[in-house]
Amino acid sequence: MADEQRMSGPVTAVPRGRVFRRSADPSPPVAVRAEGSTIWDGSGRAYLDGAGGALVVNVGHGRRSIAEAMAEQAGRIAYAHGTAFTTEPLETYAAAIGPHLPVDDPAIYPVSGGSEATETALKLARAYHLARGETERLIVISRWGSYHGNTLGALDVSGRRPLRRPYEGWLGRFRHVSAAYPYRAGEPHANALGEADELATELERTIEAAEPDTVAAFVAEPIVGATLGGTVTGRRSPTSAGGSGCSSSRTR
Ligand SMILES: Cc1ncc(COP(=O)(O)O)c(C=O)c1O
Repeated sequence: MADEQRMSGPVTAVPRGRVFRRSADPSPPVAVRAEGSTIWDGSGRAYLDGAGGALVVNVGHGRRSIAEAMAEQAGRIAYAHGTAFTTEPLETYAAAIGPHLPVDDPAIYPVSGGSEATETALKLARAYHLARGETERLIVISRWGSYHGNTLGALDVSGRRPLRRPYEGWLGRFRHVSAAYPYRAGEPHANALGEADELATELERTIEAAEPDTVAAFVAEPIVGATLGGTVTGRRSPTSAGGSGCSSSRTR
């Protein structure tokens, strides 16, 4: 089959049965085409894809300029190992994204997805402490309710109990504090607090209990994703609340 046909030709008979499905539906619709926020299946039925999957295509489907840039680059070179080469698109991308980051003089480390980004961030924190001679810093603190990925390290830093449950025996390296989740604050067993001061105090206590000089990092999202319904972190974030656990305990 020619490449053009494979990309855009009509889907008549799709061989089924050899894909390990990610949902219980043994026969999901075959997505054949998409534009903007609409996906069409093989029978022509349209679906609203309001979030762009898991915010993976949040610029919308069918952006021809992006498809053309990807095709053009794939035609030039398929892969060059990052230890030996850089490329013009990579340098241009890093230069363009840098000014948007809330960090002085940022450097971009490209990875292939969120789980890998989470685990890389943990490893960078560890490498930073090792480079400073602070070898005891191993403990990572994160929040219940958050999702940081499904690979083992990212799952361990995540706080989604149903996802963790089958693998608990392999987890437990990291510590968790309450979610900034005012909607459920006060409910029994919710692991949720509403006020930034409460959250900062809990974080501070967790750091003190761990011995501050053993804490490597605190992982938290400014806005939690779908796992807590887009929760915004209280009126002030726990790290900006007065007497912040991070600043007072020298954890960065
Ligand atoms: C905050 C956050 N971190 C990590 C991930 C995991 O990303 P990926 O599925 O690309 O591994 C997600 C995915 O939804 C996420 O929302």
